[in-house]
Amino acid sequence: MPQNHRHRRDHVLLVDGGRQLNGRVCISGSKNAALPLMAASLLTKDRVTLHNVPRVADTQLMAEILQDLGARVRDTGPSSTSITAGEPVKHEVDDALGRRMRASIVLLGALVGRGGKAVLPRPGGDAIGVRRVEQHIRGLVQMGAEVRETDTQFIARARRRLRGARVVFDLPTVTGTENIMLAAVLAQGRTEILQAAREPHVQDLAKLLQEMGAQIYGAGTDEIVIEGVERLHGAEHQVIPDYLEAGTYAIAVAAAGGDVHIECSPPDDLVVPLIKLEMAGVHVDTGEGTIHVVRNPGRPLKPVDLTTWVHPGFPTDLQAQFLALMTQATGESVISEFIFENRYQHVLELLRMGARIRIDGKMAIVQGPSRLHGTDVVISDIRSGAALVIAALCASGTSELKKAWHVDRGYQDLVGKLGELGAQIQRVDESRRTAPSPSGTFE
Ligand code: EPZ
Repeated sequence: MPQNHRHRRDHVLLVDGGRQLNGRVCISGSKNAALPLMAASLLTKDRVTLHNVPRVADTQLMAEILQDLGARVRDTGPSSTSITAGEPVKHEVDDALGRRMRASIVLLGALVGRGGKAVLPRPGGDAIGVRRVEQHIRGLVQMGAEVRETDTQFIARARRRLRGARVVFDLPTVTGTENIMLAAVLAQGRTEILQAAREPHVQDLAKLLQEMGAQIYGAGTDEIVIEGVERLHGAEHQVIPDYLEAGTYAIAVAAAGGDVHIECSPPDDLVVPLIKLEMAGVHVDTGEGTIHVVRNPGRPLKPVDLTTWVHPGFPTDLQAQFLALMTQATGESVISEFIFENRYQHVLELLRMGARIRIDGKMAIVQGPSRLHGTDVVISDIRSGAALVIAALCASGTSELKKAWHVDRGYQDLVGKLGELGAQIQRVDESRRTAPSPSGTFE
């Protein structure tokens, strides 16, 4: 039974910097794939079994939400989860649960697609931006749903079976694409999604839906066509590896120095980030499901400019980590964030560690190399947390990273995996700690 993870709210990470990373790390399943895949299980009364599910806070929360809706959710192995929605489930997502994770928005398409009704908490914006969802709503309305918005909720209903529509997005929204796919597979007729998102997790959702009997074509391109069917059946599915976790480890090795084989991960989802690492002077070799990263710390890193873009561009979810790396490059690099309007939360904390960064509109201009020093920092979201861990690995002395739970949302066993590679990192339960640990030492 998925366990409750709330107790982790006051954990901190202690990182003693200056150690290289060496060895092998096996990448877990993709969080951003597992969440819509779990939502897809609502579209059939049969059992859907997912393998390679990452054991992170967000997938555990999604399991709690599905159970609250009346689905039967069972962990059937270390990374396998079976979900049986059975007869039409409750259509109202628990407010306290749903509000904790923006990605609960993908339940909208699944619930309306399955039973014509959905009530969801309005996903709040978070540190990285407003996170609007008007494209999702407009697509569902085109398919015949009525959607009412209150300050706190979305209330959607379709008086009769949804009908296929030609949904043209203003921008390739990832969960927007996933929502329309989830609503369209059981709709009457043909749905076309134009300006569809092309991310690997969108493709993985299309693959599961096809395994469940849906007719979907074009996932991975900017035009997806779905022919609605009468019903879907159960399936077994392997969640794709998390290319964002793999990219985070590749950047960490580039920053800390060392020689690491990143395994269980398809390098072809990371083409642009790996090119950027090579441009910085890092040695990268890719093979069947593996990425070998070598960085000689004696060799200076070259500054590299980058602009985040939709897949297959440089993922916005690796921007913070790459920016942390660029604090160690010799010269000036310009990082431009084109996907979210406020995704530089990590910069303030990096400045406190001694980095030299200037924000100018969408750009962060980084001067390096900076000698970072360990200090207390606060994590504000999953990826800025990963960036601060990377910076702490490069810093002299011990860093204390507060609100570690953010990182637990998207990285399975980050402390264990980095420790295996030689990092001095530990998790401390703030509420149990007596005197603050003297800085510079490591219990
Ligand atoms: C998904 O969020 C991911 N989350 C995010 O990962 C990721 O950063 C993002 O895609 C971009 O790749 C999951 O897959 C669960 P979007 P999503 O809709 O779907 C604007 C992580 O760390 N927009 O593609 O919410 C929006 O405001 C998380 O794993 C509208 O204006 O992203 C944003 O600026 C963080 N109107 C941009 O588009 C809309 O209707 C991209 O949003 C929808 C989106």
